Amino acid sequence: MRIILMGPPGAGKGTQARRLSESTGMKHLSTGDLLRAEVTAGSELGLLAKGFMDRGEYVPDSHIISMIHKSIADPAGVLLDGFPRTVVQAESLDESLENAGLGIDKVVHFAVDTDELVNRLSSRAVCSDCQTPYNLVSDAPSKEGVCDKCGGLVIVREDDKPEAIKTRMCVYEEQTAPVLDYYRSRGEVSEIIATGTPDSVFEKLSQAIGSGV
Ligand code: AP5
Ligand code: MG
Repeated sequence: MRIILMGPPGAGKGTQARRLSESTGMKHLSTGDLLRAEVTAGSELGLLAKGFMDRGEYVPDSHIISMIHKSIADPAGVLLDGFPRTVVQAESLDESLENAGLGIDKVVHFAVDTDELVNRLSSRAVCSDCQTPYNLVSDAPSKEGVCDKCGGLVIVREDDKPEAIKTRMCVYEEQTAPVLDYYRSRGEVSEIIATGTPDSVFEKLSQAIGSGV
């Protein structure tokens, strides 16, 4: 099964993809997480990506496509989180899946209003090792700066600072909203209102995906 989780920055894609991956065994592929790992490793791609990411802009399509290409046919099934984000990426995904004799089973759109997104992102911190997200107001790590899950360092992402949050929202509207239209025109999108507790969102997500997982 291949499921695409779509939604603006802070909609909860990563939170829910992690849970779904744990409960189903599907592979969680987050292009944001993969890029942050490249930045930490100081690779050529990481050095190139860092400036774009810190400003809240997208990393050029060609780099993203080659980074993700080899994983999309994983036999465990794949949860795509943060990809595709442009129409060029969506077309390239279609082509790769078609070549592998595969398709997309579901596209789920997480709808959350902008004020709530800005609140979530402004109070978020993440583990720099395992990427577990925290909310510094309502769900902080038990020991300040230390991940409850893996003991890694919990940090505030550079792109969760106010200027970058604004840019990310605009870039999403300009470049990723058309990807939703691309899938809607094929009737493949399930909409969920992704507010309420993470448990209740997981419930809605499971229903949207149906009995296939
Ligand atoms: P990426 O890491 O994908 O960032 P994003 O899309 O901006 O999404 P986020 O990770 O910020 O939000 P999320 O939806 O995962 O929410 P989360 O679960 O963390 O990408 C970062 C950058 O990498 C991009 O800007 C770009 O530069 C580059 N990049 C990545 N992919 C690319 C691509 N395909 N093409 C080009 N460039 C690319 O939750 C957010 C917060 O809310 C957390 O604190 C969480 O605890 C909390 N929360 C979650 N659910 C709830 C809930 N139900 N109620 C209350 N709080 C909640
Ligand atoms: Mg994320």
